[in-house]
Amino acid sequence: KIYFGQFSKKVQALSFVRLKICIFVLPKNKVHSFVNMDFEMNILTETLLDWYADNKRDLPWRDTADPYRIWISEIILQQTRVVQGYEYFLRFIRRFPDVETLAAASEDEVLKYWQGLGYYSRARNLHAAAKSMNGKFPASYQEVRALKGVGDYTAAAICSIAYNMPYAVVDGNVYRVLSRYWGVDTPIDSTEGKRLFAVLADEMLDKSRPAIYNQAIMDFGAVQCTPQAPDCMFCPLADSCTALSKGLVMQLPVKRHKTKTSNRYFNYIYVRMGARTFIHKRTADDIWKNLFELPLIEADKALSEEEFLSSASFRLLLAEGERPEVRSVLRNVKHVLSHRVIYANFYEVVLPENSRSFSDYQCIRVEDLEQYPVSRLVHAFLEKYI
Ligand code: ADE
Repeated sequence: KIYFGQFSKKVQALSFVRLKICIFVLPKNKVHSFVNMDFEMNILTETLLDWYADNKRDLPWRDTADPYRIWISEIILQQTRVVQGYEYFLRFIRRFPDVETLAAASEDEVLKYWQGLGYYSRARNLHAAAKSMNGKFPASYQEVRALKGVGDYTAAAICSIAYNMPYAVVDGNVYRVLSRYWGVDTPIDSTEGKRLFAVLADEMLDKSRPAIYNQAIMDFGAVQCTPQAPDCMFCPLADSCTALSKGLVMQLPVKRHKTKTSNRYFNYIYVRMGARTFIHKRTADDIWKNLFELPLIEADKALSEEEFLSSASFRLLLAEGERPEVRSVLRNVKHVLSHRVIYANFYEVVLPENSRSFSDYQCIRVEDLEQYPVSRLVHAFLEKYI
């Protein structure tokens, strides 16, 4: 129910326009939840701002308006929790304090600083984008959005936080807070859901304080309105939260498709040839592109030691007549990525110093291994066993 009569003409007119927009973008059965939005909007927005004033996390990228640093922090935070991202951010900024330094570095070095964070295409894109800037971070939304690796979310985050431009961010936290508060069950991974939440997020944005508001709603989602254990008991929005009143907190937000995962079976070979070993760079369009790794044989199922030793792929790596000593070091290590589960075995192969095996691989000194960017899986193995 809306009682337009009790509001001034100006509010009525504004509400009418907003209502029309809502009716236009929302499915029919959702319109009703939003009719009071204009009048309740301030409760949500103001409560988030009050909450943030008391609970703001003290983070190293929050005492700057430098768009470069905010960009780096946002890209790091897309795949990492704040606690882990903190150290990566500090290390990255110490080594690459500005656009010029990042643009002048080699990709291998940038990847080395990214090692362990995952999603290495983000580091490659950061580097490529820095090179495209001609030494200066862009100043308009359109130019920021056009940077390699920058989508709607990142462009809105950078422009609002660094430049105080009125762009609302929509990330996982925002989907969660808005879907619960307004009781919206439209799937967040549908076209309709994306459009709906973008409009809603924009409606909620405090246009006079976009930098603070955007960080407030993200912090609120990360600290208070968490996915698995939201603190509804002590939530300042408890009185007006739709999901809480309807018992739907754990059902929202709705996602239509579960992420599909596939299994992969990796057999790594750590070669000892005196003080030297072999590596190669992964150049294919696949996970860990441009990272280095030990010689790898991928199979379509888990291989026993015997199956591995007698496989054509392994025998082809050895020079004719070579019968090296092989030791199975580590078996069936499960490594979970966002869309894949990798099961890895590690073997050690000892070769004579004059061997011609593994001739297609890069031969390096064992002590130089740590200079190369590698996956977290390979890094963990090298740390523990070498
Ligand atoms: N998650 C990603 N970016 C964030 C930010 N700037 N503040 C809070 N949470 C975030």
